[in-house]
Amino acid sequence: MAKLPIIIDCDPGQDDAIMLMMAFSQRDKLDILGVVAVGGNVPLDKTGRNARIICELTGHTDIPVYAGCVRPLARDLHTAVEVHGEEGMSGVDVYEPDMPLQKKHGVDFIIETLRAHKDAEVVLVITGPMTNLATAFTQAPDIKSKIKEIVLMGGGRTIVGNVTPSAEYNIYADPHAADIIYKSGVKTVTIGLDVTHRVLASKARVQRMKSIGNKVAVTACNILGPYSFYDSDKYGTDGGPLHDPCTIAYVLDPGLFTTKFCNLEVETGSELTLGHTSVDFWHGMPESERPKNTHWAYEVDDDGVYDLLYRCLETFS
Ligand code: RIB
Ligand code: CA
Repeated sequence: MAKLPIIIDCDPGQDDAIMLMMAFSQRDKLDILGVVAVGGNVPLDKTGRNARIICELTGHTDIPVYAGCVRPLARDLHTAVEVHGEEGMSGVDVYEPDMPLQKKHGVDFIIETLRAHKDAEVVLVITGPMTNLATAFTQAPDIKSKIKEIVLMGGGRTIVGNVTPSAEYNIYADPHAADIIYKSGVKTVTIGLDVTHRVLASKARVQRMKSIGNKVAVTACNILGPYSFYDSDKYGTDGGPLHDPCTIAYVLDPGLFTTKFCNLEVETGSELTLGHTSVDFWHGMPESERPKNTHWAYEVDDDGVYDLLYRCLETFS
């Protein structure tokens, strides 16, 4: 079976790191064309470094890592160091990798790579602010036709916000970029807080991961410890939500999720609700029919996601 060409755009970030471990373990199914880092959870110099640390940890240093945009389109960078730690990888002793960062800008990589592919061929997986792809769309609108779908972690409907009462971090960090993506006409699958908050890294699940015993699984557990504590305390749950790995889980097994095609619009003006995702799940009043523009995930087989994560981590033994 032909491998699925994908570009991963992320801001590692602890859950991004585990998402990368999953993706790298499935290169028999995924043709990973490259990883592009963006300023997000921590500044770009650290997200670019952290992505390469995961490449070295998993033995996939042949995957090119690019640095993309250093800050959002129209606002200052708002990091999430309180969740991920100053270095973006609490639980991991960070270091400067031997593996080099690619010299080409990540946005140029996205444009050139998409132009080199056929129509509707490449899947974009985005697990941070969507600044890089929005910039690429603005510079090179022709690349939109090359994308099969964008699978992104972001937004919230029944669980509305995690960084403010009304917004999820990835959208809040760059609402203007998200607005460009959702109005681009390109197919999007949105994995938001509604489902990621059902995929909790409980103590039992972390223990199961630890029993796998290889260095990648142990590193994932070391990450999930501090990462989970923050959200467990905040939400009073047994473990924190495993946001970003849900994107790769969807790519590998979309049947783990239930989605509904509906309209999603992003608040870009109000200071109070900046980054809010207004999801027209029940297709509002007929006369206000807003164009459907995303496949919104609203159900998830959380045990299935973890079984897939265990299988991915076991490949590193
Ligand atoms: O809101 C969760 C998202 O914000 C995840 O992608 C996490 O890594 C942070 O970037
Ligand atoms: Ca992220």
